[in-house]
Amino acid sequence: MTKQASQQSCEGRVALLTGITGQDGSYLTEQLLEKGYIVHGMVRRSSSFNRARIEHLYLDPAIGGERLFLHYGDLTDSSNLNRLLEKVGPDEIYNLGAQSHVKVSFEVPEYTAEVDGIGTLRFLDAIKEVGLKEKVRFYQASTSELYGKVQDVPQTEATPFYPRSPYGVAKLYGFWIIVNYREAYGIHACNGILFNHESPRRGEAFVTRKITQMVARIRYGLAETVQLGNLDAKRDWGYAPEFTEGMWRILQQDQPDDYVLATNETHTVREFAEEAFRHAGLPLHWEGKGADEVGRDAEGKVRVAIDPAYYRPSEVDLLIGDYGKARKELGWEPQTTFAELVRIMTEADLEQVRNSLP
Ligand code: NAP
Ligand code: GDD
Repeated sequence: MTKQASQQSCEGRVALLTGITGQDGSYLTEQLLEKGYIVHGMVRRSSSFNRARIEHLYLDPAIGGERLFLHYGDLTDSSNLNRLLEKVGPDEIYNLGAQSHVKVSFEVPEYTAEVDGIGTLRFLDAIKEVGLKEKVRFYQASTSELYGKVQDVPQTEATPFYPRSPYGVAKLYGFWIIVNYREAYGIHACNGILFNHESPRRGEAFVTRKITQMVARIRYGLAETVQLGNLDAKRDWGYAPEFTEGMWRILQQDQPDDYVLATNETHTVREFAEEAFRHAGLPLHWEGKGADEVGRDAEGKVRVAIDPAYYRPSEVDLLIGDYGKARKELGWEPQTTFAELVRIMTEADLEQVRNSLP
């Protein structure tokens, strides 16, 4: 589909997003506005401002209050979801809102289930209740965490699930309730099974961004060492804006279906750290084993150390996705290589720290 064709066909269509203040929500909002959509986003009340990722859009007088509208809400509040649907009457819904941190889900398992699992059901049921089931298309942010203790390498849409965290189990409920409401009520509901995707807008508690932020601070003398957990975990890391474009493509299909979006490449956390430090001019060499392993720079200074507090009660050791179905049916293909992704993220954090220096 050409960009011009997609813009023409989408002019004036209405999208409703949960998770609009998150990494993916911010990129998807930019892309939908670019395609001509009117975008409504659910935001949570917070005691401190949490809209930095979409501020540039909202503060633009041609966009904020004209083509982009924000509404208070929460995936734990059914009456709010009903009201929002009645008020907005969306053509497309992107359910990106979630307690999205895997390690944190072990600390707040019940809340994670409420938001990531039952929240999806609340939304689907509200669509049915307000009479939008014939009209609306629904995208669910499913995840490669569903594969957990992987049963196949690489993972495809046909690979059995084996989640390894309260987050993964909550998202498993979300995945299947989408399939069930599609089959039972004919709702055009789709799962995007997305493998890890990163960017300079990635939350600071996820490992890639934690590393690139700390590399920048270390490079400018503001920190000494980054403390990490399991360096051996392998992830299939892609570039977030390409994945949000894939979400939109999933909803443009005539028949609702579920798709893997991935890069079909996997790297360890150790490799990500090595590449980021190398890019900042601080190549590392490794010494020791397990919790005693350290990464030293050329001068012998410890730049990476292990803090077992970051280990997870149960770990997902290896993720690598086969996106063949998305390539064939959606014409979707990732463009950004692993080295390029690390470069983009490290450069962005180096620049941010440089600009903050007196
Ligand atoms: P993120 O940056 O952590 O953003 C999560 C968003 O959800 C934020 O806008 C957050 O609002 C909102 N949220 C949290 N709890 C909520 C609640 N109770 N009610 C309504 N909204 C709530 O996550 P992301 O990386 O953009 O990921 C987007 C979605 O894709 C998530 O569902 C995630 O689980 C899923 N996913 C992500 C990846 C990935 O690699 N990024 C891969 C597969 C699936 P606040 O700003 O107020 O906290
Ligand atoms: N967060 C974090 N912090 N992870 C660390 C650290 C650390 O200091 N050290 C090592 N890791 C390891 C984790 O144990 C995990 O194996 C890997 O780095 C990636 O962790 P995260 O970046 O937190 O992401 P995730 O893979 O657990 O989850 C992300 O991707 C999922 C898709 O597979 C999140 O975005 C989920 O929402 C998403 O569903």
